[in-house]
Amino acid sequence: MELTKTGVVGLDELLGGGIPKGWTTILSGEPGAGKTCLSIGYLVEGIRQYNENGIFLSFNESRKELLLTQKSFGYNLEKYEKEQKIRILDFSYGKALGQGQIALQQGKLDLPGLTKELKTAINDINATRLVIDPLTIISLLFDDVREVRYNFLRFFDVIRRFGVTSIAITESTGLTDYTIEDFLASGVIHLYNERTGSKRQRGIEIIKMRGIKHKRGVFPLSITEKGVIISPDVELPS
Ligand SMILES: Nc1ncnc2c1ncn2[C@@H]1O[C@H](COP(=O)(O)OP(=O)(O)O)[C@@H](O)[C@H]1O
Ligand SMILES: [Mg+2]
Repeated sequence: MELTKTGVVGLDELLGGGIPKGWTTILSGEPGAGKTCLSIGYLVEGIRQYNENGIFLSFNESRKELLLTQKSFGYNLEKYEKEQKIRILDFSYGKALGQGQIALQQGKLDLPGLTKELKTAINDINATRLVIDPLTIISLLFDDVREVRYNFLRFFDVIRRFGVTSIAITESTGLTDYTIEDFLASGVIHLYNERTGSKRQRGIEIIKMRGIKHKRGVFPLSITEKGVIISPDVELPS
């Protein structure tokens, strides 16, 4: 199995090398656990360390919000945009009047149209990394579970043929609610933001990674001024 190094501090060690090249890995977790930060780190480190360009497909934050929040980590996304190393596809509520969320409410966001736009962007900047934040949006497009499953498989297959290694974010409140995406994806990484008493501790766990021997258990994750840092040697007590 060929692997793509994420470049995020500590993560590749935890993963046993990286994520499966050319496939989709799910990154799930509760709000504020660090999903968006980690996935931006995946794109930025791709550029900095491996000369790999990336696409950020955003349904939550607008491009403006992303540029602003990620600046606090010393990630100058605007500069990478200008250099054609990163492309933010903004399907957020504010930007995408008539497209993204509003179309979604009306059941009009068409997957083929979205896929086409994605393909153009990938070809434009020669991207090999892709982040979808969140993938959950796609499951809202279909009412029927069978249709959701079929369309996810098709979507995963299509983006695989685009030649990108993807991280797809799913929003969840805990591990009791595994989703169809989790079963279909080649890997699942879960982020925790757990409260004990008055304290919260962020954590990360590799739930599955097809064909890779990864570390098991929950490990500490911190969000610092330099981005996400994972400590693969310190297992959190259960
Ligand atoms: N510069 C920073 N230093 C430390 N923590 C930060 C910084 N910027 C954001 N955070 C933390 O990251 C959290 C948001 O992470 P995010 O990746 O957006 O979560 P998710 O996408 O899982 O909801 C915020 O709640 C905040 O506590
Ligand atoms: Mg987020």
